Amino acid sequence: MGEIHARCLSAMDGVQIHALCDVDEQRARALCDQFHGTYATTDPERALRDDDVDAVYICTHHDTHSMLAIRAAEARKHVMMEKPLALTLEECYAVGNAVEKHGITFMTGFKMRYYPSVARARAFIPAPLVTVGQMLDARWPDDFWANDPRKGGGNILSQGCHTMDLVCHLNGSPPVRIFAEGGNYTHPGVQIFDNIVATIGFANGTIASVVQGDSGQTPFVSKFSFQLTDGRRTAHLRNRLKTVTLFDGEHVQETVDPEEYGFAEENADFIRSLRQKTPPPITHVDGLRATLLILNAFEAIRTGRPQPLTW
Ligand SMILES: NC(=O)c1ccc[n+]([C@@H]2O[C@H](COP(=O)([O-])OP(=O)(O)OC[C@H]3O[C@@H](n4cnc5c(N)ncnc54)[C@H](O)[C@@H]3O)[C@@H](O)[C@H]2O)c1
Repeated sequence: MGEIHARCLSAMDGVQIHALCDVDEQRARALCDQFHGTYATTDPERALRDDDVDAVYICTHHDTHSMLAIRAAEARKHVMMEKPLALTLEECYAVGNAVEKHGITFMTGFKMRYYPSVARARAFIPAPLVTVGQMLDARWPDDFWANDPRKGGGNILSQGCHTMDLVCHLNGSPPVRIFAEGGNYTHPGVQIFDNIVATIGFANGTIASVVQGDSGQTPFVSKFSFQLTDGRRTAHLRNRLKTVTLFDGEHVQETVDPEEYGFAEENADFIRSLRQKTPPPITHVDGLRATLLILNAFEAIRTGRPQPLTW
């Protein structure tokens, strides 16, 4: 992901990629060469101490997100954070407190919000009654770092934050309650929840369901499928969110985008917010909300009880 973001940034005027950091020195050097950086380092502190650095991109494994974000905030560097914000609520709050205390600009990378199909569905149904969100991956390899309970947290914590964020974005009202069933099905012996089905209640009384996991056979089970209805109109997003079908009760309108979007657009928004000193459209609070929903879904599975959401 560091490479993808660097590619987006290198296409933008007035942005210089200065320091490339990875604990794996070869990877840092390779990116530095590729993007004509000033130096490569294995020490994040070197970049954080560097007065020539205005902002940092955190594209590391999930167990390092909060530590790096807090250090960046303390060093007054603005942050683009790859999802998820962190793996625990304590870490999420610690990041949020550091961001607010030091007044940095912080954006969470929920690129799915930028798909044109998402904007079309939101414009067509601004106040959905029922929202359905599904992200089903094919089974993740056991040795994938994101499946490691400590480094990655498994599919639900890694990917489910995208799904939770998009469902909340499509719904528009704050989530107030979550219930879930699920557990460990596809990776026995690994201490993670790998497949869940959750229901969410929103402050305005509307509802959503979320299916997340790695029990699918994509594309025969849709990796991404989001549906909204307000009782009169319906929208269905599928085909990796490139296709959206809108139905107003009489007419069907289907749009198919040629490609997926998100990375260039979120980078443009981040840089714009730095230049204009305005808050980015997706902040640490959005990152916290998505992880809060997942951790409370886990708690609902453990206790068998719906969980009220407060933060
Ligand atoms: N938005 C998306 O669509 C999307 C897609 C894939 C991955 N991601 C996210 O991007 C992030 C990175 O994933 P990836 O697939 O690029 O993983 P990756 O394993 O390819 O790269 C992560 C790199 O971080 C380095 N690293 C680990 N700890 C470090 C530390 N403390 N300091 C410096 N470097 C460190 C590793 O050596 C590795 O090179 C994750 O948060 C992941 O969830 C987002």
